[in-house]
Amino acid sequence: MASRLGTQLGEWRATTAVAQSLADRIRMLLLDGRITVGERLPSERALAAELGRSRATIARAYELLEARGYVVRTHGSGTRASLPARRIQRPAAAGDDVIDLTIASVGSAPGLHAATVRALDRLAGLLGTPGYSLDGLPELRARIAERYTERGLPTDPEQIMVTSGAMHALTVVLAAFGERGRAAVVEQPSFPHAMDALRRTGHRLVPTPVTPDAGWDANHLVESLRSQRPALAYLIADFHNPTGATMPELERARLAAVARATGTLLVVDETCAELDIDRGWTPRPFAAHGPAILIGSMSKIAWGGLRIGWIRAEREQVAALLGARPSIDLGTPLLEQCIAIELLDEMDALLARTTERLREGRAAVADGLAAHLPGVAMPPMPGGLAAWVDLGGPWSTALSLGARDRGLLLPPGPRFSASGVLDRFARIPITWEPELTAEAMARLGAAWRALHAGELPSATRMASTAVV
Ligand SMILES: Cc1ncc(COP(=O)(O)O)c(C=O)c1O
Repeated sequence: MASRLGTQLGEWRATTAVAQSLADRIRMLLLDGRITVGERLPSERALAAELGRSRATIARAYELLEARGYVVRTHGSGTRASLPARRIQRPAAAGDDVIDLTIASVGSAPGLHAATVRALDRLAGLLGTPGYSLDGLPELRARIAERYTERGLPTDPEQIMVTSGAMHALTVVLAAFGERGRAAVVEQPSFPHAMDALRRTGHRLVPTPVTPDAGWDANHLVESLRSQRPALAYLIADFHNPTGATMPELERARLAAVARATGTLLVVDETCAELDIDRGWTPRPFAAHGPAILIGSMSKIAWGGLRIGWIRAEREQVAALLGARPSIDLGTPLLEQCIAIELLDEMDALLARTTERLREGRAAVADGLAAHLPGVAMPPMPGGLAAWVDLGGPWSTALSLGARDRGLLLPPGPRFSASGVLDRFARIPITWEPELTAEAMARLGAAWRALHAGELPSATRMASTAVV
């Protein structure tokens, strides 16, 4: 019987460097999600027979994959597809003259210290309790629910689970509702760590395009749902990271209806939902248009260091989330939850300060592009974390390498793609202080000029960094 791998290899043929070619092909199938992480691959003998090749060739191909981390071979359980462990560089130590634009963050809110002091009183009232908070403190859930209700989506505190940030929220959602081996639609570009999480839970990623000016290709998205019947779709519908696009309400309603028909769970990440500068309209949260699990976070409006996020779902979904969570962790720290309660009482001030910072950051990036990267236009961006800049050619990786030589860390465009494309684009955060941004843009300009003068960067590969 044909194996799944054999079927996926389809028309693959090679006459020279057969083992290398087979290894490359299997790697592509894996990166493309058509072979899922953890999937058992046929034995050397079986694949050799199926493909009409020698066993030594298959053994060599598996060895090549193993050497790069794309398969794991264990005695007794055979050969399984895997992804190389991503080694993350430690962030540059404070004082190093390195500007780190892998992070898009406005830093900590000015009132954070005072809120922490006030939170201690609330914490004192909890000290007699066991302290495990699997779904979150009732007061915090009530505040989060109120905020949804204010934004046009009536919400009951029972529909909220407090998490340790949005990434953790996604981990819990995938533990409860992920379906290994099934398709998951993601935007192209999208938030890299969310795509990694989907892959690690065995999903096959199906990209759908988003651009700063045109937003989503609604027909492509709907067609992807209809043709692939994905288990879920992970979307960033508001101030999409990295393009800054916001999905119009009509598109949300249409998508929600199609997802309902195709049995696709919509997981909508609202981490950036409140990063408005001058959009001028406020869409209702996605779940106001049809079934969707929403993920939110305090990271971009208060502080990434707070590690507070949440999930908004239907009550029966919350029950499933509560069932899945204890294998991951046993609750979010109480002090941080108490601080979040204080901060949510000051949302207007928090948002006003964030808007101001983003407005200045956006101007600094636009000025920097005009001054140092002639011909590269600032994309339209009424809000969000970063400018998704079209470089006009496939130069992003080379530019990132050159920037690193000049003390600037900038993730290359393909880091935001499910399939390693998008080398035309760079993500430049608009979250940093204008002075720092101006210096970063000057360094980027130096790398840009060197690139166009044909100078080679000192390294040929980017080390992976966390991108937030
Ligand atoms: C779309 C998106 N989701 C999630 C995160 C991570 O959020 P958190 O710090 O709450 O885990 C980020 C951070 O940049 C993000 O942009």
